[in-house]
Amino acid sequence: MSGRDSARVLDRLRALREGDAPTHGGRVLSYVYDSGREELDELADAAARLARPLNGLDPTVFPSIAAMERDLVGFTRRMLHGGRSVVGSITSGGTESCLLAVKTARDLWRARNPGGGRPRLVTASTVHAAFQKAAQLFDLDWDPVACGPDGAVRARDLITRMDDDVALVVVSAPAYPSGALDPVRAVAGAAADRGIACHVDACFGGFVLPWWPGLPVWDFRVRGVTSISADLHKFGYAPKGVSVLLHGGRGQQGRRRHRAQFFATTRWAGYPVVNPTLLGSRSASPLAAAWAITQHLGPDGYAELTGSIRRVARAVRDAVDGIPGLTVMGDPVGPAIALVADDSVRPAERVDPHRLADALAAHGWKIQHQPGILQSDGVRIPHSAHLTLTPVLEEGAAEFVGALRSASAEVRGRPQADARMLMAGLRALGYGTGGRVPGPKAAWRLLRLAGAGKVSADQPMSMLMALIEQLPPPVAEALLTELLARMSEPR
Ligand SMILES: Cc1ncc(COP(=O)(O)O)c(C=O)c1O
Repeated sequence: MSGRDSARVLDRLRALREGDAPTHGGRVLSYVYDSGREELDELADAAARLARPLNGLDPTVFPSIAAMERDLVGFTRRMLHGGRSVVGSITSGGTESCLLAVKTARDLWRARNPGGGRPRLVTASTVHAAFQKAAQLFDLDWDPVACGPDGAVRARDLITRMDDDVALVVVSAPAYPSGALDPVRAVAGAAADRGIACHVDACFGGFVLPWWPGLPVWDFRVRGVTSISADLHKFGYAPKGVSVLLHGGRGQQGRRRHRAQFFATTRWAGYPVVNPTLLGSRSASPLAAAWAITQHLGPDGYAELTGSIRRVARAVRDAVDGIPGLTVMGDPVGPAIALVADDSVRPAERVDPHRLADALAAHGWKIQHQPGILQSDGVRIPHSAHLTLTPVLEEGAAEFVGALRSASAEVRGRPQADARMLMAGLRALGYGTGGRVPGPKAAWRLLRLAGAGKVSADQPMSMLMALIEQLPPPVAEALLTELLARMSEPR
C-alpha cells in the first residue's frame, strides 16, 4: 500500500482536529491554559521547531538541553524562593514530577530503613490522582486523610498520621478538585520535626500563586518543604510535555534528594545510561518552548497574566454569589474553582453542578464534571463542577457569566441524575459490591447498556458521572478503562 502525499495527510489531520474541543479562546475550562497572547504560541512553535531533532537523553552531546534546563530550574527556584541549594529537573509533566517526588522520598526512606517494610504516603484525599499512581508503581501505601465537605484538610489531621513509616507527606498549592491551599507551613514544620520529607504539589498553582497577593507562604521559604513540583505546561503557558521538580533542604540535602531521583547504570552492553527522569529518549521541544516563553515573559509577564486570572476569578465568584442555588466549594485560592449545589436552599431552588455543566456545554462552554467521593470517615465531598480560569477568559468573562446564569436557570430544581435503575441492573449482574470486576468484553457490554458506549465532546455526562459516583471504584475504573481503551482500538 503506498502512502498519501503530505498535503492530503495534513488535510486529514485538520479534519480530525475539527472534532476536538477548542483549545483557544477560553471555552474549555480545564485541560488547556490559554494565555490569550498569540505571540506566545508563535514563539513556542518556533522554539519547539528549532529543538525538534534533539534528544534530551544526552546533554553531553546536545549541551543546549542542559543550558535550557539550567535556565528553567534557575527561573523556577527564584520564583519559589529557593536559594542556591535548591536543584532539580525538567520532566514531561505534572504526573512525572509527582511520581519522581515519591520515588525519591521512597528511596531515601528505604536507605534509612533497610528491611523496614512498606512505607506510607500521607496526603489529603483531594491530592492529585498522580500520587495514587505513584504509590501503586513504587510500592507505598497511600494514606488519604479526609477533608471537610468544603474540600479543606486540617493540618492536625495530616500531622497525626505522621509516623516512622511515612516516607513522604504531600500538600497541594492548590488542590485541583477544590482550589484549596493546603496548610503548608504547619504540615511541613511538623514533618521536619519528625524527619519526614514534605512535597508541595504546585503543579497547578506553581506559575500563578507566586504573584497572587495575600496568601500564606507555601514555597521554599517554609521550613520543612523538601520538594516542589510546578508545571510549565499549565500556567507556564508552554505546550504540553513540560514540568519542573525542585528539591531543597539544608546544606547538600537538595542535591542528595535530586541525585536519588536519577537512574544510572553501566551494567549493560550499551552506552552508559543516566536518566534524571522516568523516560529515556526525551523530546526537547516542550523544554525549548517553555524556555523561550519564560525568557520572553519574565516574572513581570507572569505577574500580568496572573492579574488577568484574578480579575476573572473575581467576576466568576461575584456572578456565582448572585445565582440562587449555586455556590463555590470552600475557599479556593488561585485559578481553580469548584461549583456545588447550595444545600442551604430548598431542593427546588438548587442548581445541580453536573446538570449545569451539561447545560453550559449546549451554550458552548465546557466546565468539568467531578464526581462526589465518600471518604474513610464517612464525610462526603459533594459532586461538583471544576473551572480552570485562564487569562484569555478576561475578554469573554461577561459572556461566560451570562451563559452561567442562563444555564443555571435552565436546570434549577433538577436533581442530580438518578443512576439507581442502572445500579440495580449492575447489582443483579453481580457488579454492585466490587467483589466482581468486569473484564473487557463484559465492561463493554455494560457500557453500551448504560448508553455510554460512545462519548463525544457534547454528550451529557450527568448520568455517567452519577453512575461512577455510586459504583464500587474497581468496577467504575474497569468501565472507564474500557471506554478509553476502545476509543483507540483500530476498527
Ligand atoms: C495539583 C496537580 N498535580 C498534578 C497534576 C498532574 O499533572 P499532569 O496532568 O500534567 O500530569 C495536576 C493536573 O491537573 C494537578 O492539578
